[in-house]
Amino acid sequence: MPATPPPVSFDPARGLAVLRTPGSVYALRVDADGSPRHLYWGAVLDPDDLAALPAAVSPAASSFESEAAADELAPQTGARFGPAGLQVRFADGTRGAQWTLTGHTVEGNELRLHLADRRYPLAADLCYRVRPGSDVIERWVELSHTGPDGANDSDVSGPIVVDRLDSASWTAPALPDYRLSHLVGGWNSEFRLHRDRLPVAETVLTSRRGLTSHHANPWLALDDGTATEEHGEVWSTALAWSGSWRITVHRDPTGRTTWTGGFGHEGLSWTLQPGESLQTPAFAGLYTAHGFGAASRAWHDHVRRHVLPEPERDRPVVYNSWEATGFAVDHDGQLGLARLAARLGAELFVLDDGWFGARTSDRAGLGDWTPRPAAFPDGLRPLADEVHRLGMSFGLWVEPEMVNADSDLHRAHPDWVVHTPTRDATELRNQLMLNFGRPEVEAWAHRTLDQVVREHDVDWLKWDANRVVTEAGWPGHPDPDRLWIDHVRAVHRIMDRLRADHPGLRIEACAGGGGRVDLAVLARTDQAWTSDNTDPVDRLGIQHGFSQLYPAQTMAAWVTDSPNAATGRSTPLRFRFHVAMAGALGLGGDLTRWTAEELDEAAALVARYKEIRPLVQRGRQHRLSAPGGVTAVHYAAEDGTEHAVLVCRPATRFGHRAPALPLPALDPAAHYLDLDEGATYSGALLARQGIDPRLPAGDYASSLIRLRRVD
Ligand code: DGJ
Repeated sequence: MPATPPPVSFDPARGLAVLRTPGSVYALRVDADGSPRHLYWGAVLDPDDLAALPAAVSPAASSFESEAAADELAPQTGARFGPAGLQVRFADGTRGAQWTLTGHTVEGNELRLHLADRRYPLAADLCYRVRPGSDVIERWVELSHTGPDGANDSDVSGPIVVDRLDSASWTAPALPDYRLSHLVGGWNSEFRLHRDRLPVAETVLTSRRGLTSHHANPWLALDDGTATEEHGEVWSTALAWSGSWRITVHRDPTGRTTWTGGFGHEGLSWTLQPGESLQTPAFAGLYTAHGFGAASRAWHDHVRRHVLPEPERDRPVVYNSWEATGFAVDHDGQLGLARLAARLGAELFVLDDGWFGARTSDRAGLGDWTPRPAAFPDGLRPLADEVHRLGMSFGLWVEPEMVNADSDLHRAHPDWVVHTPTRDATELRNQLMLNFGRPEVEAWAHRTLDQVVREHDVDWLKWDANRVVTEAGWPGHPDPDRLWIDHVRAVHRIMDRLRADHPGLRIEACAGGGGRVDLAVLARTDQAWTSDNTDPVDRLGIQHGFSQLYPAQTMAAWVTDSPNAATGRSTPLRFRFHVAMAGALGLGGDLTRWTAEELDEAAALVARYKEIRPLVQRGRQHRLSAPGGVTAVHYAAEDGTEHAVLVCRPATRFGHRAPALPLPALDPAAHYLDLDEGATYSGALLARQGIDPRLPAGDYASSLIRLRRVD
C-alpha cells in the first residue's frame, strides 16, 4: 500500500511545496529567481498528478508582461504590476525585495520557507500551516531586518521602511468567470452578503477605522458564478485581524484572479531597525468542492476546533439590560429585571452601560471603572451576589479602550488618548480612544479590568468599543503608525491574560454591535454581539451573512421588545424567538412591561431553545434559503440523529402557499420522527420533496420543526 503523503512537504531539489488537507491540495514552487510562486489550489491530486503538474505561467504573453506565475507574496520588483503584498524601502531609497531561498523548515503541520534578500539585510519567512481534519490553510509572514546593530554601511543597512506587509497572496485557478462574495454593511446593518460578478479591475475590501469594522468583514469567497449552497467549487479566505485591514482582489484583463491581504490600510508604514521583526496575522484559506453551504460548515468547524478558546461550553441564555434601561441603571431596577430573567430561564445576567463613574449618559464617565454611588450605593457586589443566588452568572459591560473627555481618567492622563497634538481631535459618541500601544495604558487597562472582575465577582465581560480611530498619532514615538498594530495586539493580550488569570471568565466581543468580529477576536472571546439592530426581520439578513464564516454559537441574538427600538416594527414574540434561536439566544427586552402571557410564552420558548441548543451551538448548519421570502436554517447533530429547522416568513403573499422545504442534509435511506407532530417521514422524501414548513397564516409567521432519526 502506498504511504500516505505527509500533510506538509517541501522538495528542495524541485523547490516544490505541497500542503494536503482531507479535501484539497495546495502547491507552490520556488522559481529559479528565488520567488515562491503559486502552482495549484483545488481538489485532491495524487502524488503522480502533482509531479506532472506543469510549471505555472502567467496567461499574459507579451514583452510588457512577466511570464511568471502569480506570487505567493508579490515583492514589488521585476515585471510585476499588480498589487504588491510586500512593499519595503531601504535606507538608500531602493524599493522591493529580490529573494534567495535560504532554507526551509517542516515541523509537524507547519512549513516555513526562509527567504533572504540578495543584497539587503531583509529576511522573510513565508509560513503555512494545516490542521488535522480541516481543509483550512493558514498563512502568515515574518519579516526581519537582519542587519547588524549599529552598522554604518547605509547602503545596505539602516532602517527598513515597510509600506505594506500582507499575510499572503492567494490565486484562484483559471475559471471561465469569477464571482465575488463578501460582507458589507454599517452600524445596525452588519454582515450583508453581496455576491457580484468580479470586475476586471482591482477591487479593494478594507477597513481604515482601526477596528475590523461594521462596513466590511475580512472574508471573501470566489467561485465561477455558478456555485450554489449545495454545489460548486468555492475558494474563500478570512483574515484573523481586529484592526484596520486591506484585501485587494485583482482580476486582470488576461483572466487571472489573485488577491493579497493583511493588516493595515494604505498609507501606513512601519520601520524595522536592525534586529527587529514584524509578524503578520494569519490569513486563512479554504477550498471546498460542494458549494457555499459546505464552505461555511468547514469554516464553522475550523472556528470551533482551532479558533475558539472554549468551544465545548454551552453559550448561556443571556439577559442583557441595555435595551430595557439604557443608562438608567440602578440596583433595584436591575435586580427586578434579573428576577424576571431568571424566571424565564436566563442563565447569565449582564449589567450593561451606565454602572460606573459619572456615566448617566454617553457624555461622561467612560474610563472611571468604579460603581456609580448614586446607582449602586453598596457597590455591585450585592447585585452580583443576588444574581448568583438566582442561579445565573453575573456579567458586566466594559469599554476599556475608550474615555470621555469628561472623566477623571482623561483629566489625569490627557496624553493617553490617540491624538495628534496639532490637530483637533474628533469625538465620536462623545468619546476619545486610548492608545493601548503605550505600555502604561495597556498595564492600566489590564489592572483595572482584573480588579473589576475580582471585586465584583464577574463571570462574563461584554467588551465594547463604540468609536474608531481618527487623527491617529502617537506623539514622541519614533514609529507612530505602530499604533495600528500595537493597539490591537494589546487588546488581544489583555483578553488573553484575563482569561488565563480567571479560569471560567467568558468574554463577549462587541463594538457597537458587530464592529469587531473576526477570527482573531474569536480566538479569545466566546461570542460576538452581532448587531445593535435586534429587529428580527433585519436580523435574518444579518445572520445569513454572519453565518458565511462564523458559527451560530458565536452569534449572540437577543429577543427584544416590540415595536423594535431600532426600526419601530412590531412582530410577534414567537417570531422574534425563532429568529434569535438560530444563534446564541439572549433576552434583551424590558421584561417589566411584558404581560404574564408573554412571560409564560417566553419561558416556554427559552426551554425549547435549551432542547435544541446542542444542535444550534454544536451541530452542522444548513442554510435552506436566503432571506427574502421564507428563510430557513437546518441544524443537524454531528451524528445525524437530531435535527432542528427554524423557518421564518416575514411577509405573507396571497395565493402563495409556503413551498415544501427540502432537507438535503438528511439521509435518504433513513426515517425521521417529527417530535412535535408524531408522524414519521422517509428521509428520501424529506431530502428531495421537502417538509411542510407549517407556517401559520399572516405576516411574521415562523415555526420550529424537530426531527429525530429512527432507523
Ligand atoms: C453598543 C452595544 O452594541 C450595545 O449593546 C450597548 O452595550 C451599548 N453600546 C452601550 O453603550
